[in-house]
Amino acid sequence: MKAGKEPASPEQACQSGQSGQSGQSGQSGQAGQAGQAGQAIEVQDLHKAFGDLEVLKGIDFSVGRGEVVCVIGPSGSGKSTLLRCVNLLEEPTSGTVTVAGTEVTDPDVDIDRVRRRIGMVFQSFNLFPHLTALENLTIAQRRVLRRGKEEANRVARRNLRRVGLSEKEAAYPAQLSGGQQQRVAIARALSMDPELMLFDEPTSALDPELVGDVLAVMRSLAREGMTMLVVTHEMSFAREVADRVVFMDGGVIVEQGTPDRVVGDPQHERTRTFLARVLDPAAAEVGEVPDVGPHTKRVDR
Ligand SMILES: Nc1ncnc2c1ncn2[C@@H]1O[C@H](COP(=O)(O)OP(=O)(O)OP(=O)(O)O)[C@@H](O)[C@H]1O
Ligand SMILES: [Mg+2]
Repeated sequence: MKAGKEPASPEQACQSGQSGQSGQSGQSGQAGQAGQAGQAIEVQDLHKAFGDLEVLKGIDFSVGRGEVVCVIGPSGSGKSTLLRCVNLLEEPTSGTVTVAGTEVTDPDVDIDRVRRRIGMVFQSFNLFPHLTALENLTIAQRRVLRRGKEEANRVARRNLRRVGLSEKEAAYPAQLSGGQQQRVAIARALSMDPELMLFDEPTSALDPELVGDVLAVMRSLAREGMTMLVVTHEMSFAREVADRVVFMDGGVIVEQGTPDRVVGDPQHERTRTFLARVLDPAAAEVGEVPDVGPHTKRVDR
């Protein structure tokens, strides 16, 4: 994710991805429940071009309710663009995207209503620097969901507890580590009661020792049954937590399936080449990983 493509301000982050209405998602892996409830996200023949550059070249995939899907692939393969098309931060060139039964690519859709159901967490945290952790969690609740102060505080405290940061409610972002700031950003998204969460490399800007706490929070969300679409280079997280892994390259899905299948036994040469590079720290150290992204990616088995 390039910085310029993330929300310009925390306000925009709240408006674009952090607003939501109550929603219930099934337990991860409960196929019956997912079947009954339908898909959380359905993408059909999605194309996206920036001028002459075709970035998404016909993407078809879906995420069931309660499912955790990890998207992996080289830098520039279109992962962030795909995520951003799901909540219309990017407008698709053609194709359809349906979120919880509402076609977001329908020109008449009330996109703000749809976005309220989607929590989005970016690589950069987009917290308001002049507000405390607690205030960062209450502002969109109050402005967008029109919650009263007491209720907003109650929800905010519950979610700070969920991410292990009850002690930090009075801290300003500058007084928090990167990992703590990212956990506040996750708690902020959760405070809007999203039906599903999109994560775009939420740990790749963090120092390695701070990554674990953020992944632990995401792991516990997955256990609670949150529907999650996660762009990540954390292969151990993908293997352990994902119900499905999607490998993208050059704007197409090359293969998808269970983590054991895609990461453990990839069928395509492109997937094998990518995984060999990501999973081989020695290669990374000698600079042989030109295409895993502009940022320091955590290399993980
Ligand atoms: N707003 C934009 N205008 C022009 N080109 C863009 C824009 N956003 C993305 N691109 C281009 O689209 C391609 C896909 O970008 P995208 O950010 O989706 O890749 P990515 O798979 O998320 O990569 P990374 O792992 O580096 O985050 C890149 O070539 C990028 O330069
Ligand atoms: Mg990206």
